[in-house]
Amino acid sequence: MRLKLADGAEQIARDRLTHAAWGGGLSVEQYLQRELRLRGHAWARDAMETWLWQGDGDDVLASCESFACRSFFAGARGTSYAIASVFTEPARRGRGHAVSMLSAVVDALSTRAPHAVTLYSDVGARIYERCGFCAVTSLDRSIAAEAGDPREGVTPIGEDEVAEVAPPDTRFVVWPDLAQLDWHRERERAYSALLGRPRPPFAGARTRGGDAVWAGDLKSSRLVVLRLTAATDDDARALLRSAARVAHAAGLSRVVCWEDATLAPRVPVGEVTPRDGGLAMIRPLADRLSASEWIVIPRGAWV
Ligand SMILES: CC(C)(COP(=O)(O)OP(=O)(O)OC[C@H]1O[C@@H](n2cnc3c(N)ncnc32)[C@H](O)[C@@H]1OP(=O)(O)O)[C@@H](O)C(=O)NCCC(=O)NCCS
Repeated sequence: MRLKLADGAEQIARDRLTHAAWGGGLSVEQYLQRELRLRGHAWARDAMETWLWQGDGDDVLASCESFACRSFFAGARGTSYAIASVFTEPARRGRGHAVSMLSAVVDALSTRAPHAVTLYSDVGARIYERCGFCAVTSLDRSIAAEAGDPREGVTPIGEDEVAEVAPPDTRFVVWPDLAQLDWHRERERAYSALLGRPRPPFAGARTRGGDAVWAGDLKSSRLVVLRLTAATDDDARALLRSAARVAHAAGLSRVVCWEDATLAPRVPVGEVTPRDGGLAMIRPLADRLSASEWIVIPRGAWV
């Protein structure tokens, strides 16, 4: 068995198969459009590769994608790869193809000296533990949308005004750059066009000591906070309240923010629960990096 990087036609052939897993709410044609649009985005054009796991013939046994993401470890900027869209056709499942493919993909990516390989599992930890990944704490803060002025106490950030903020002071972090953050909004734009749903009125908000960037997950009727930095509890509270009001203005039912240990954990806004899907998992590759050091995981790092 061998790994191969897919070309454009092979990617579309996989899209036709994966529609059943990830195309909810979209027709096959709409899903193909979504995938082409996301792959055509500037960030994905540079960052994304589609891997095929082939048997003796040209049969594809399994496939996945990897995205090169910016990470920082012990003060040095580098790359961590995020794996997504792991897929085996129903008739081929349960024969170890996904696990063998992932082991081979990690080996291939290791030759590029990344800090780590990450993924966000929707099927629990067990399958990915078999290829060396380790699950880390994954909590969601969920806040109901609320009526009110989303500008109260914050300065809105327009789509073209999103700025870099310094990564948190932790030893390791995958910290999305502006292009990756915009890729999440490309998904918002795609669903808005395909489903005819309104987009949130602005892309984030700023306070004196904080900054939040978000995107509409229109398929799931929620606003996802991609990045949140807050010096004080008051900053976090004002930004999350603005997000809840933006969600309401866009007809979305709630806000979801990936919770981390450094972010004003005492702020009594919404409800914090173990994440349903999107379990963060990591296979550290840099010398002396351990899974337990991955403690700040913004939703913007998800692929
Ligand atoms: C998940 C998936 C890629 C596994 O492919 P596969 O080639 O059958 O995987 P392997 O044979 O290497 O490993 C099988 C393991 O995956 C586990 N698995 C498969 N689907 C699962 C699910 N929905 N929930 C939990 N575990 C699952 C199996 O239970 C099995 O573990 P077990 O032997 O301990 O029971 C395949 O089922 C699939 O394409 N599913 C739909 C898309 C999807 O959900 N992808 C994962 C996104 S994170």
